Amino acid sequence: MENISNIVQKQFTFEEYKGETRHSLDVSIPEVLDPQYGMYVWPCALVLAQYAWTHRHELLHKRVLELGAGVSLPGVVAAKCGAQVILSDNAELPLCLDNCRRTCEVNDLPNVIVVGITWGEISPDLLHLDSMDIILGSDILYEPEDFENVLITISFLLRKNPEAKIWTTYQERSADWSIEALLHKWNLNCDNIPLEEFNGNKLRSGLTQPGSHSVQMMIITYKGKSE
Ligand SMILES: C[S@@+](CC[C@H](N)C(=O)[O-])C[C@H]1O[C@@H](n2cnc3c(N)ncnc32)[C@H](O)[C@@H]1O
Repeated sequence: MENISNIVQKQFTFEEYKGETRHSLDVSIPEVLDPQYGMYVWPCALVLAQYAWTHRHELLHKRVLELGAGVSLPGVVAAKCGAQVILSDNAELPLCLDNCRRTCEVNDLPNVIVVGITWGEISPDLLHLDSMDIILGSDILYEPEDFENVLITISFLLRKNPEAKIWTTYQERSADWSIEALLHKWNLNCDNIPLEEFNGNKLRSGLTQPGSHSVQMMIITYKGKSE
């Protein structure tokens, strides 16, 4: 792994009160503060990690894959909540895969696997993945040119794992963007999850990235399974 000097550790605490009892989880994320690498925790990641934390009972002993993981906050929360996690990022960007590995090291997660999965490519690594229960994707729908490739990968994974769910967050960057036609083309269902349902609208983050107010959460499933 390349030794990068300008790494800043960012701390995140997830908590929940059940009666008088406080449940909490601390995660540390090494961010690379360099425009060339640009590896930050995006607002979407914080919201998806909060969803994972509040739904941690659904993660215990489940097989979870994170797509476009970057510095991997949601995947690490899932691993800390008892899931068997595989983190992935673009196979052509080894520095991004290094970020995934670095986050695992910092959070003492030696059993998390890191693989290169490039959206839209049905590569041997994608073909050889074990079966999955939950697929995480935070801010992976951010570049309209990539939307179809993201959905090709998602659709491939859901055909192989028809009961699996994609938990994903995205940021509304333009009113003109829509994935509705692509969801239909790739036989996918989508449910929007209001942020208020899991306190995703009340996160105090101190993130470097602006715009957390426009984050949305959705769950994508395979239409074929109910037909
Ligand atoms: C906006 S960042 C989000 C990172 C992280 N999920 C988060 O929310 O903090 C997008 C991520 O997608 C990855 N990515 C971009 N293009 C990709 C591709 N074609 N295949 C796989 N991953 C890609 C980037 O390397 C980056 O980690």
